[in-house]
Amino acid sequence: MKAIIINEYGGRDQLVEKNVNTPKPGPKDVLIEVYSTSVNPVDWKIREGYLKDNLQLKFPVVLGWDAAGVVKETGSAVTKFKPGDEVFTRPATERDGTYAELLAADEELVALKPKNLTFKEAASIPLVGLTAWQCLVDFAQIKEGQRVLIHAGGGGVGSFAIQLAKAKGAYVISTGSEDSESIIRESGADEFINYKSQDFTKAVQPVDIVFDTIGGDVQKNSYKVIKPGGVLVSIVSPPVQKDATNHSVKAGFVFLDPDGKELAEIGKLIEEGKIQPFVGEIFPLTQEGVRAAHELSESHHAKGKIIISVKE
Ligand SMILES: NC(=O)c1ccc[n+]([C@@H]2O[C@H](COP(=O)([O-])OP(=O)(O)OC[C@H]3O[C@@H](n4cnc5c(N)ncnc54)[C@H](OP(=O)(O)O)[C@@H]3O)[C@@H](O)[C@H]2O)c1
Repeated sequence: MKAIIINEYGGRDQLVEKNVNTPKPGPKDVLIEVYSTSVNPVDWKIREGYLKDNLQLKFPVVLGWDAAGVVKETGSAVTKFKPGDEVFTRPATERDGTYAELLAADEELVALKPKNLTFKEAASIPLVGLTAWQCLVDFAQIKEGQRVLIHAGGGGVGSFAIQLAKAKGAYVISTGSEDSESIIRESGADEFINYKSQDFTKAVQPVDIVFDTIGGDVQKNSYKVIKPGGVLVSIVSPPVQKDATNHSVKAGFVFLDPDGKELAEIGKLIEEGKIQPFVGEIFPLTQEGVRAAHELSESHHAKGKIIISVKE
């Protein structure tokens, strides 16, 4: 099958098109014919080798951790899916990636694709959706009526997080540049803060939860707007616990844990019309296409999710 692989860590020129062996599904695996995948910042962070001390990956590595497609085959112990099912998944990080025509994934990490989404739209959801869910619902235990600040609401995680927080009944404030204002407002944010022209620590009234998708000074300064007893959750860097204690804030770092059950919950919210995908640029599954998709993601200013179309 066709896949885009890397043979070693490095720049975008490491991404090459290759014919590789078709993955063999284990007893609990479904073999998925991938129609669409998406690009997340973790793809190029792994490509560069930034996570090599944390992940045991064997070269050649197929990158990509979002997929939407159709079940082609099921392992002998699979109970939840059958050939022909339309599914989406955030597969395990240390197995085959999704820049490929076929993917073997544990059925526990797979969910039925929301009926109202195309494959391209569905591929934009699992990684960012599960990340936002595990930060806001599992870690921060978001409640109706709470005030939430979401940094980078124009990004893949941020635009999903705004919608999830609104679906849970929160009041949402989000930061972005003027280029992100329309996505942030369409996602349902109650307030938009332009980080280029406004200091969020002065513009934002105290909040119960800050969702940090930026790190560095943005994370440090976020304590200034969190109420005592509030929550800071980061997906970029672990907060310094001493700072959190000094501000009487519960602070933590979340690295998403793939989960098909939570993905199915997310699918329900999408079918109920509470969350919509934001698909940005679409690239083909070619060496040039994937290199261009990584370049856009590495800019930190992509608008909407970057999709790679594998099969029309
Ligand atoms: N720990 C985990 O499990 C996990 C999971 C997913 C993602 N992540 C990490 O979380 C980060 C965000 O991921 P993503 O997929 O949402 O990235 P993304 O889609 O590439 O984010 C791009 C967005 O960031 C906005 N942005 C850039 N600088 C900003 C700033 N200073 N203030 C506010 N907005 C800013 C840009 O808006 P403008 O163009 O308007 O500036 C753009 O809309 C990445 O570092 C990623 O690796 C971690």
